[in-house]
Amino acid sequence: MNVFVKMESNVRSYCRSFPKVFNRAKGSKLFDEDGNAYIDFFAGAGALNYGHNNEYIKKALLSYIESDGISHGLDMYTVAKKEFMTTFNKLILEPRNLDYKLQFCGPTGTNAVEAALKLARKVKKRTNVLAFMGAFHGMTLGSLSVTSGLDIRRGAGVPLGNVSFLPYPSQEFEGIDTLAFMRQVLTDDHSGVDKPAAVILETTQAEGGINVAPTEWLQEVSKICKENDILLIVDDVQVGCGRTGEFFSFERAGIEPDMVVLSKSISGYGLPMSLLLLKPELDIWEPGEHNGTFRGNQMAFVAAKAALIYREESKLEESVKEKEKFIKNYIEQNILPLDPNLYARGIGLIWGIDCSKLGGGDFAKEVCQECFSKNMIIERAGRGDSVVKLMPALTIKFDELKEGCKIVRESIEKCLIRRKREGDEKSSNCA
Ligand SMILES: Cc1ncc(COP(=O)(O)O)c(C=O)c1O
Repeated sequence: MNVFVKMESNVRSYCRSFPKVFNRAKGSKLFDEDGNAYIDFFAGAGALNYGHNNEYIKKALLSYIESDGISHGLDMYTVAKKEFMTTFNKLILEPRNLDYKLQFCGPTGTNAVEAALKLARKVKKRTNVLAFMGAFHGMTLGSLSVTSGLDIRRGAGVPLGNVSFLPYPSQEFEGIDTLAFMRQVLTDDHSGVDKPAAVILETTQAEGGINVAPTEWLQEVSKICKENDILLIVDDVQVGCGRTGEFFSFERAGIEPDMVVLSKSISGYGLPMSLLLLKPELDIWEPGEHNGTFRGNQMAFVAAKAALIYREESKLEESVKEKEKFIKNYIEQNILPLDPNLYARGIGLIWGIDCSKLGGGDFAKEVCQECFSKNMIIERAGRGDSVVKLMPALTIKFDELKEGCKIVRESIEKCLIRRKREGDEKSSNCA
């Protein structure tokens, strides 16, 4: 471990929560260098919806590499790209009656967010953008500007402007009519907010603490955007690609965003791929105006095509819905009764146990550490990192899902008992 501490920048983070050296992984299990197995409830922060080293995708990749297929192609025409695009159109866009052009950005989610913001401003000739409190869209200057976390915004080192934040329908704004607020901001000639080019949102805020926007809220926002000539950008980087049940997270609302950002699990194998879907009439880019050496990773195209076929053939969507039922019931029946101050939120296979009323981030951290001591990888999200985030691969086997949920329950129970004991000791010391 010394080599990491000695040589790797202090900026490293997840390895601090899971201080082991990992070596192999399969499905929903990771193995450290000593061969110990860990159940994965983190799924590469959403990049591994199809599990680690998915056999079907792996075969497609291996045969492509074996045949000396193009491994790097900038944005040239390649067979790998052609096959991905035709498969994406056939399996995803056409059946949903969606008409989008594809822009390959590179290589991670933040770059497609940058492209979406640039394009929205270019199309509408306005600088302001509306984003939501609790949002996370990435770490480069543009995407960070529409991200609400103050600590990470400070890291920019320069003022992050041309964005106005609105309240999201999360528990922090319970009792506030966030839609009325949005309408007011857009119509009040004393709102102090410049008319935006776009609204950018996650239909479920993931890093923001698993805040699921109600379906009607999404429909209303889409309507408000249309009425006010504002583009709607849905950032589906984390909750897209089947995470919430359907392929796109906005399908449940029946809306059609002007732009959709995809990354993380679109490649299906944890390979870097970042994709912006844009309505054809918005495609006013000059050639090369948004550029990058690693746009369109060829291996990712191959894996992504295989992932889409695997998804279809294995009826993944149906299995996510069954697993959603299980996890929801499990939380309601086995976790929430442990303490009246525990709350839960979620959709599909992304769920949060909100510990903010139980000592917040410290308690959630203890829970995740306890899970790790029981060989489980699980992370936190939300304000003060106070939400334990359950995000297994969509392909997780039912027995592993049950085992993982049981570890979370046992860990919360243990931390609650410890808390109570420490509280009792404190009060007896005071007496
Ligand atoms: C919703 C959302 N948008 C954008 C990003 C940025 O993606 P990347 O880390 O690949 O740049 C993330 C990353 O977690 C995300 O969750």
